[in-house]
Amino acid sequence: MKIGILKEIEKDESRVAIAPKNLVRLKKLGFEVLIEKDAGINALYANSDYEKEGAKIVEKETIFKEADIILKVAPPTKEEVSKMREGILLMSYLRPATNQELLQELASKKINAIAMDAIPRISRAQKMDVLSSMANIAGYRAVIEAAFYFGRFTNGQITAAGKVEPSKVLVIGAGVAGLAAIGIAKSLGAIVRAFDTRKEVREQIQSMGAQFLTVDIDEDGSTPSGYSKEMSQAFIEAEMALFKKQAEEVDIIITTAQIPGKPAPKLLLEDHVKAMKRGSVIVDLAAPTGGNCVLTKPGEIYTTENGVTIIGKVNMMPMQASFLLGNNFINMLEDMRKEGQFYINMEDDVIKRAMVVYNGKINWPPEPISVSVQKPQETSKSPAVDLEVMKRKKAKRKVITFSIWLIFLAIIFLLLGQVAPKEFMAHFTVFVLSIFVGWNVIWNVTHALHTPLMSVTNAISGIIVTGGILLMGDDLSDPITILALIAFFVASINVVGGFFVTYRMLKMFKKS
Ligand code: NAI
Repeated sequence: MKIGILKEIEKDESRVAIAPKNLVRLKKLGFEVLIEKDAGINALYANSDYEKEGAKIVEKETIFKEADIILKVAPPTKEEVSKMREGILLMSYLRPATNQELLQELASKKINAIAMDAIPRISRAQKMDVLSSMANIAGYRAVIEAAFYFGRFTNGQITAAGKVEPSKVLVIGAGVAGLAAIGIAKSLGAIVRAFDTRKEVREQIQSMGAQFLTVDIDEDGSTPSGYSKEMSQAFIEAEMALFKKQAEEVDIIITTAQIPGKPAPKLLLEDHVKAMKRGSVIVDLAAPTGGNCVLTKPGEIYTTENGVTIIGKVNMMPMQASFLLGNNFINMLEDMRKEGQFYINMEDDVIKRAMVVYNGKINWPPEPISVSVQKPQETSKSPAVDLEVMKRKKAKRKVITFSIWLIFLAIIFLLLGQVAPKEFMAHFTVFVLSIFVGWNVIWNVTHALHTPLMSVTNAISGIIVTGGILLMGDDLSDPITILALIAFFVASINVVGGFFVTYRMLKMFKKS
C-alpha cells in the first residue's frame, strides 16, 4: 500500500505530516512512502533525510495518482480535493465543526476522511490525538516565549550583586497546554498559580506544584466529552474579578481557555492589561480562536502603551511538532490493522467518530462518548455516612482490644510477682511500658516522617551496638557474651539497613 505525504501549501504552516525519523515505523507496517519534493523543507528536513530512510521523493501529481492514503497537516484546499482519487483515505486536520463545505466536497468525491482533530478523548486514543500533542508543544513554547520577552529572571536568585525575587506566572485553563506550561514554568523556578473551570483539574495543578485558584461560585465546567462547557455570565464575571487582582500581582499570564467549536471566552479586558506591571507578558494561546484577551492581535506580538507585551502567536517548533504529528498518524494507522492487513473498522469507537466522511456520506457530528473523570455527584453522600459509622466502629474495637491487653498484662504481672525477684519486676515493668510507648509513638508517625524516625532508631541501635561490645567477653559459653553478640548482630542489621534505605530514598530526590 502506498502512503503519500503532501507539502503544505497553507501560508504559515511549516509542519509536515511525517518526519524522517517516523519512516522506520511506517516501513515496518509495510507501507511504501511517497513524499512530495521539499515537503519537509520548512520543518528543516531535507529531501535527502527522507531518502536515507527509504522514502521516494516525487512530484505532487504522482501522490494524487498513486497514493492509497494521503497524510497532510492542514485541511486540503478545494483544488487538492479535486485532484484526489475516489476511494482513497485522507488523514489531516479538517476542523469539521466549522468546515461543512469541505466535508461536502470530500463526500462528493467519495474520499474517506479522518479528521485528526476530532479524535474522541478516550485514554486509548490519546496516542493519536494531534490536539493533545500540539497543545503540549504550545504550552512549553508559551513559557519559553514569555521568558524571552519578560525582562527579568523567572527564578529567584541570591547573588553577590543582589537578591532577585522569582517571577509569578498565572496560567488560565489547565488542559494539556496549561499543564505543560505549569510544568515548564515551575522548572524555570517561577511561582505558578492556575485557574480552570473544571474542578477535576485541581489535583493535577496541585500535584505539579502550582496553586489552584478558585472563585466563590459553585459551578463546574466539566462535561462528559472531556472538554469544558461555556460558563454562566456570573461565573465569567467572578473569574474576571479574580484575574483583575492577579493581574496586579503576577508578571506573566498564559491563557489557554477554549470551548470546542466556539470562540474563546474573553477573560482579560483592557482593565486587566492596564493593571499589569510594566514589562509583564501575556501569552494568549487561544489567539487562533479569537483570544482570551481582548487586546490580543492573533498572529502578532506587540507591546501596549503601558509596557505589557501581548503574544498572539507562538513558534510551534515545526521540527519537533512534525515528529509528534507523524507519531500520531502512525499510531492511528497501526490501530487500523487487523491480522497484518490495513482495514477500516467503522465499529471501532475511535475510527467511527474520527472518520467524518465515509463512503460518500458525512459522518458529523459524531455520536457522543463519555470520557470525563468527574465522579457522579449523587454517589458522594452515602459513602460519607458509611465512613462515619465505620470510624465509630473502629474506635470501639480499639478500646476493646486495649482493655483486653490491660487485663492480660495485669494477670501476667500478678503471676510473675508471686515467683520473680523484686528487681526483676521493676525492670520488667520498665520493659513492658517502653514497648507500649514505643509501639504507640511509631505506629502514629505519618509515613512521610519514617526517614527521620529511622535515624532515631539507628541512634538507638548504635547504643545497643556499643553496649553489646562493652559486655562481650572472651568466653563464648557465657550467656552474657552470647546475648551481647546477638544484640550486636541484630542492631547492626538495623544500622546498615537504615543507611541503605536512606541512601535509596535520597536517590529518588536526585535529578539525573
Ligand atoms: P481545551 O484546549 O479545550 O481547553 C483548555 C482548558 O481551558 C481546559 O482545561 C478548559 O477547562 C479550560 N477553560 C475553558 N473555559 C475556561 C474559562 N472560562 N476559564 C478558565 N478555564 C477555562 O482543552 P484540552 O487542553 O484540549 O483538554 C481538556 C481535557 O481533555 C484535559 O483534561 C485533557 O487531559 C483531556 N484530554 C484527553 C485526551 C484523551 O484522553 N485522549 C486527549 C487530550 C486531552
